[in-house]
Amino acid sequence: MVAEESKVENPASEQLAELVAEVAGCHKCPLAATRKKTVPGEGSPTAEIMFVGEGPGRDEDETGRPFVGRAGKFLDELIASLPMRREDVYIANIVKCRPPKNRDPERAEVDQCSDYLRQQIEIIDPLVIVPLGRHALGWFMPELRITQSNGKIFRNDNRVLMPLLHPSSGLRNPEHKRMLQEGIHNLKDAILEGIRLRNEIYERSRIPIEGQHEPTQNPLTADAEPETSEANSGSQSTVVEQAEAVALAETPPSDPTVNLFERPQTQDEIQAELKRQRAIEEAEEAAEDQAEKLVVDDRQASFF
Ligand code: URA
Ligand code: SF4
Repeated sequence: MVAEESKVENPASEQLAELVAEVAGCHKCPLAATRKKTVPGEGSPTAEIMFVGEGPGRDEDETGRPFVGRAGKFLDELIASLPMRREDVYIANIVKCRPPKNRDPERAEVDQCSDYLRQQIEIIDPLVIVPLGRHALGWFMPELRITQSNGKIFRNDNRVLMPLLHPSSGLRNPEHKRMLQEGIHNLKDAILEGIRLRNEIYERSRIPIEGQHEPTQNPLTADAEPETSEANSGSQSTVVEQAEAVALAETPPSDPTVNLFERPQTQDEIQAELKRQRAIEEAEEAAEDQAEKLVVDDRQASFF
């Protein structure tokens, strides 16, 4: 139903086109001087899933398209395994220009550029955002560690996030590859959670107007008939449609929780859990950083 509405009067594609044009002429930060092409992002303006990497690598800088190198091919495989098509999702990066010599973008560059990402998220309004790798995750939820968060579902700032390891990390580390291949399948649950959240936000926004006899219809249930949801669970339906069918069939939980899979109960437990995760991740990151230093001029390897 949302898709049909957007076809009729969907300014999202125009808004995105304007943003792409703005990025193409952007000189807000020093990365403009060394880029070949800006890499604003690409995909469906009505995507329900948005993947966010750190920044363009060599292949992306040459082509102006995100995730087209080796890591991109692996990301394509992961998306196809859902099954879903790359054209159905949106793929963006935190910074839109390649940092020279594949270095990490600097704080100031991220600060300058991230407003574009913020706008993309607003325009596309996806059900789920998938930060890829620790740098992207760090922009959304700096308190989380990537290997501990891979494939888990979080609510943050009225958005559902499901972080995944960076695909390039999966190319180098068989354990990470397995974690990515497994983790991506939790997107179905994440989409379901995205639908619940959207529904809750809608319910919260409903202000009863005195004397109004016809209640506003919840957009999730408005045009859904039992046959529709049954049809949606068939093999022809998309992952999003299947999740919508499940959402319709169940009562959404009322608890707006942080980590839905492993939910610590008290503040102390949350702090202890975060501390534990941080210690594990810091050790892993140190090992990964060491491994990274061995890789010369391989952009794919520097992102995870
Ligand atoms: N790595 C990223 O983080 N983004 C890309 O677009 C390509 C590789
Ligand atoms: Fe502009 Fe972002 Fe490119 Fe910097 S990285 S020049 S802020 S588009």
